[in-house]
Amino acid sequence: MEETYTVDLQGLKELAHKLAENLKGNEVIFLKGDLGAGKTTFVRYLVEALQPEEGTVVRSPTFAVLNEYRTQKGNVYHADLYRVKNFDFTDYVGNGILLIEWADYLKDLKPDLVIEFKVLDENRRKVKIRTAEG
Ligand SMILES: Nc1ncnc2c1ncn2[C@@H]1O[C@H](COP(=O)(O)OP(=O)(O)OP(=O)(O)O)[C@@H](O)[C@H]1O
Ligand SMILES: [Mg+2]
Repeated sequence: MEETYTVDLQGLKELAHKLAENLKGNEVIFLKGDLGAGKTTFVRYLVEALQPEEGTVVRSPTFAVLNEYRTQKGNVYHADLYRVKNFDFTDYVGNGILLIEWADYLKDLKPDLVIEFKVLDENRRKVKIRTAEG
């Protein structure tokens, strides 16, 4: 299934909150799109919607590769492979919501959801949400 939205920041937040409600807590989600398209911003809203433990701040994991957040729906793992290209996710898959930016070079991991971000203009993004078949 595939759904496309055109959203400003507020719309992106609403989309993230809607998705948060529908997640079971063990999904693998690939986040695609250019630098600055809104992938990390989406994760920030998503984690926020999942009621993280107090003091949680979502930052880009570009340097840490993987950040971990505790929420009411279990752990959220947020990875960014822009620099490293590959990473062993064995310990994370199925143990929380796993969100991966720049997953293009990952060979062995299949996503349950792919979310694609496209910059339309400064404040608007096209967001395509695709669920895996079968
Ligand atoms: N509608 C929108 N959706 C998402 N981000 C938006 C929107 N409008 C403006 N922005 C801004 O665009 C920037 C998106 O940056 P963000 O770090 O989320 O991108 P990214 O896709 O994670 O990039 P990178 O690949 O470098 O990690 C933020 O500064 C955000 O405030
Ligand atoms: Mg990012």
